[in-house]
Amino acid sequence: MRNGGLKARIAVIPGDGIGAEVTPQAVKVLKAVCSSAERPLEFVEFDWGADKYLREGVTLPPGGVELLREEFDAILFGALGDPRVPSNQHAADILLGLRFKLDLYVNARPVELLHDRLTPLRDRTEKDIRLIVFRENTEGIYVGVGGVFRQGTPDEIAVQEDVNSRKGVERIIRYAFEYARQNGVRRVCMSDKSNAMTFAHGLWQRVFKEVRQEYADIDSRHLYIDTLAMEIVRDPSQFDIIVTCNLFGDIISDLGAQLAGGLGLAPSGNIHPGKTSLFEPVHGSAPNIAGKGIANPLGSVLTSAMMIEFLGWKPQAEVIRSAVRAALQENYVTPDLGGNKNTVAVGDWLVNFVGKNHLAKQLK
Ligand code: NAD
Ligand code: IPM
Ligand code: MN
Repeated sequence: MRNGGLKARIAVIPGDGIGAEVTPQAVKVLKAVCSSAERPLEFVEFDWGADKYLREGVTLPPGGVELLREEFDAILFGALGDPRVPSNQHAADILLGLRFKLDLYVNARPVELLHDRLTPLRDRTEKDIRLIVFRENTEGIYVGVGGVFRQGTPDEIAVQEDVNSRKGVERIIRYAFEYARQNGVRRVCMSDKSNAMTFAHGLWQRVFKEVRQEYADIDSRHLYIDTLAMEIVRDPSQFDIIVTCNLFGDIISDLGAQLAGGLGLAPSGNIHPGKTSLFEPVHGSAPNIAGKGIANPLGSVLTSAMMIEFLGWKPQAEVIRSAVRAALQENYVTPDLGGNKNTVAVGDWLVNFVGKNHLAKQLK
């Protein structure tokens, strides 16, 4: 069960494109690290994605949310998105559906440089790029409130509402401050666009002003999102925690991912503390490389480390992270990172590393 128990049930949703290629690598590594630690993980795979949608017309199956919520401790997710589904309907129903219906209000996206050579920024090193983005994950412009009017005519109008509740804004800002306190981190930056989005982000301003007063021990500040985008490139070392809305968090986390080596390396967790949460790499289904066997599995593998840490298995998460660091050190990587290894070979290398590491510990 969750939070430190001996056994955990994991729902695996590999999804589309490279999601189906990288997720099995993460599962393989998890099995290696947890069997060696005598902590069984039970995996149940779900075939939700574009193929099923095109075959059966089903996106998120009836009862699916309840099943995940009641019978699983966590969900390991790949990616959704397929050129055969231009509407992206299945991704909206499944991915956004799970985020909303499981109330996974924290989208935690760490940006951590694991090897100096991976950043495109000149003269920046591992110590400069180590932050986490907390993206509000249950509201904002993602909720699907809106519509089109006079579609297909020259007078067509499209409206998409940005929905922000006091409860929603407060809980993500509070989470960021609590995380800072609990992890001994000093600096929180809230980012919005309250100078233009005066109603929606005026609320973010008011809530931030209130909540920060309770956290005088934390160094907190505000930046408009356009300035944040500039500052994070100019000097990423000034940030520990960034908290922002759903859309801005989506964008800034891809920017952050690139500062730390690219989308192929970036993990994320969609979290509601104490409840069944969903873990996925930041990247999508990458149709441009899908089926070639060259997708980088490290983002998914680091995601699995976040997942088991959430389940209370920190030592095992650290073993996975050290395996990834070792692969980067050895340059045993896929082409996106300048290597020539394929997806499965990198997964196998990590499994082997974990096995040896464990053996070495046992022999001590
Ligand atoms: P993407 O993240 O799939 O790809 C962007 C670029 O990064 C591509 O050049 C791709 O080849 C590269 N890339 C991404 N992950 C990689 C990896 N692991 N290894 C090597 N290279 C990698 O973004 P996109 O192309 O804008 O979107 C493709 C589809 O994925 C769309 O349908 C989109 O909606 C969907 N998507 C889904 C998720 C998700 O399920 N969480 C996230 C983002 C995008
Ligand atoms: C992500 C993705 C999704 C998002 C898409 C697929 C809806 O880009 O997880 O970052 O915007 O949240
Ligand atoms: Mn995204």
